Amino acid sequence: MSTSASFPTTRLRRLRYNPAVRELVRETRLSTKSLVLPLFARAGKNVRQPIGSMPPHCQLSVDLIGEEAKEAQKLGLGGVILFGIPAEKDPLGKDSYCESGIVQQAVKAAKDAAPDLLVITDVCFCEYTSHGHCGVVDDHTGRPDVNNDATLELLGKQALSHAQAGADMVAPSGMMDGMVGAIRNSLDGRGFEHLPIMSYAAKYSSAFYGPFREAAESTPQFGDRRAYQMDPAAGADQALREVELDLAEGADIIMVKPALAYLDIIRRVNERFPGVPIAAYNVSGEYSMVKAAAEKGWIDERAIALETLTAIQRAGAGIILTYWAKQVAAWIHP
Ligand code: PBG
Repeated sequence: MSTSASFPTTRLRRLRYNPAVRELVRETRLSTKSLVLPLFARAGKNVRQPIGSMPPHCQLSVDLIGEEAKEAQKLGLGGVILFGIPAEKDPLGKDSYCESGIVQQAVKAAKDAAPDLLVITDVCFCEYTSHGHCGVVDDHTGRPDVNNDATLELLGKQALSHAQAGADMVAPSGMMDGMVGAIRNSLDGRGFEHLPIMSYAAKYSSAFYGPFREAAESTPQFGDRRAYQMDPAAGADQALREVELDLAEGADIIMVKPALAYLDIIRRVNERFPGVPIAAYNVSGEYSMVKAAAEKGWIDERAIALETLTAIQRAGAGIILTYWAKQVAAWIHP
């Protein structure tokens, strides 16, 4: 701890009177370079389908994904993460690993429009499967559930097809045991040894994903995701085990999700794994709550968003996925 003298020799308010001094001693500075914007790709041309609970976000047809990517590059964002909403869903989510799939098209459009923009893909099945679960469903446990090991092979195929479409990074979000290793295995030896994996390592089964499921049309058709996503009340050490396993399987960046209710987890991961880049997903519900309250005039959206993102970064996340990414660019570089 500090060895400084006590009051009145020491007066911490000396660091606060002058705005220039406050600015000088700031430790956490938001930068657009650390922010990743989620985008939702759908079929069609010139389609902008509003996501009711997340204004002004829309599902965008592939041509408009290109436009959005250009803007993200111009604003200096750290990257975009693409989610695909296929025209047709089936039990295996085949569109997710098809060369002409929706997300593969979106990746190509984004890279063509903005070659220098980092394009990440979310690797999961829930947007693509007719049942809305994050993998292959069968009743191997006696009731319908996601079959972990059967899903791994398809995750490998999906990640490889995203890489072949031109993705710069893949981000598996399904919380299958062994998913990072299976993806690494599938990429290596096929010319993608260099492609980084950002793993949703500590992803909780959270009600904060509600608005996203509207956006991605990925609500499970039966049951919930508690048999694969983490229990919010599980010991924080379980998150550290998840992170440790993912790192051992080859994860390059570790994600904690959601962000705001899990700042303790971000901090624990940061302290336990120094040098490992940490991303936090400031999820849909965290965004929608603020939007709704701001629309009622109850809170100041800009102030709350910037304070929230500052707190997430201060907790230890150097990378933040956020639906505010474009607005932050306007707020901090007016
Ligand atoms: C799964 C996925 C989800 C989110 C990102 N990837 C949803 C889920 O697990 O149900 C949620 C993101 C958000 O709420 O903003 N593919």
